Amino acid sequence: MGAEDLTTCVKLNNKFVDAVGRASPKKFEYFLKACSHAYVVRDQERIVAFMFAFGADSDYKSPNYRWHNAQSYRNFVYVDRIVVAKDYQDMKVGTQMYKFLDGLCKKAKADFVVCEVNTTNKDSMRFHQRQGFEIISGNYAHSDDYKVNFLMKRLGNVEKPKINRKVDLNKAPEKPEKSEKNEEKKESKPRKERPPKEPKPVDDKPKMCRECKKEFSAAEFKDHLKSEEHLKMKAIKAKLYEEAGATQ
Ligand SMILES: CC(C)(COP(=O)(O)OP(=O)(O)OC[C@H]1O[C@@H](n2cnc3c(N)ncnc32)[C@H](O)[C@@H]1OP(=O)(O)O)[C@@H](O)C(=O)NCCC(=O)NCCS
Repeated sequence: MGAEDLTTCVKLNNKFVDAVGRASPKKFEYFLKACSHAYVVRDQERIVAFMFAFGADSDYKSPNYRWHNAQSYRNFVYVDRIVVAKDYQDMKVGTQMYKFLDGLCKKAKADFVVCEVNTTNKDSMRFHQRQGFEIISGNYAHSDDYKVNFLMKRLGNVEKPKINRKVDLNKAPEKPEKSEKNEEKKESKPRKERPPKEPKPVDDKPKMCRECKKEFSAAEFKDHLKSEEHLKMKAIKAKLYEEAGATQ
């Protein structure tokens, strides 16, 4: 990601403040310097999606990052932000971004991809669970009206680490000291193989289309997403959304 792309990413970010919090050029300049991964997705010249991720032991002050950084697992990549432009959502752009990140993480021998999702962001929760994330601590209350679920995706055959659900962020070290004892333990203990996973149950619950406000059976839903009726409605909503954004 080049510095010139940052302004576009800030604008795109600020269309989803409820989901990802507000950004500023200064904040994203810091992200670009401190993060381990940053990339954008373009359609022709237009940036239609972006992602920032941080490795362990960064001095990033976000409380959600510090929650993960205060845990026992060290070889993680924390996804701070993933945003796809409204008119490019539900086209598997987000799925492809995670696939790309997983590949980079595996090359870098990271065992865990972690993040948090606001408990009110049901679409993103569903999306992340589809990407293989599991909740490792639910309903963590930063305040009465800001609660998050902490999520983790394990890459390869690693065991689920022990999670400390009661991290006190006032006490959580920004850069935890690595205990030599723990390091020794980690090296001498062979990894246990996990039993093969049970196949996921087929999700055949009826699905509600956000755009058309109609319910479909799981089998019909995929076809509906490609139907002329849905694509028209999606285009109208995207246009209204862009117009609303332009007047802000
Ligand atoms: C969450 C987000 C990153 C997902 O990216 P995306 O590119 O839209 O996701 P994908 O297209 O890969 O997958 C979307 C899922 O929604 C489903 N979907 C598609 N159209 C839908 C519709 N109209 N109504 C309901 N669900 C729909 C798809 O079937 C797919 O589910 P599946 O995996 O069960 O098939 C993106 O929507 C986004 O940027 N949202 C706003 C910012 C945000 O919330 N970021 C995450 C913060 S934690």
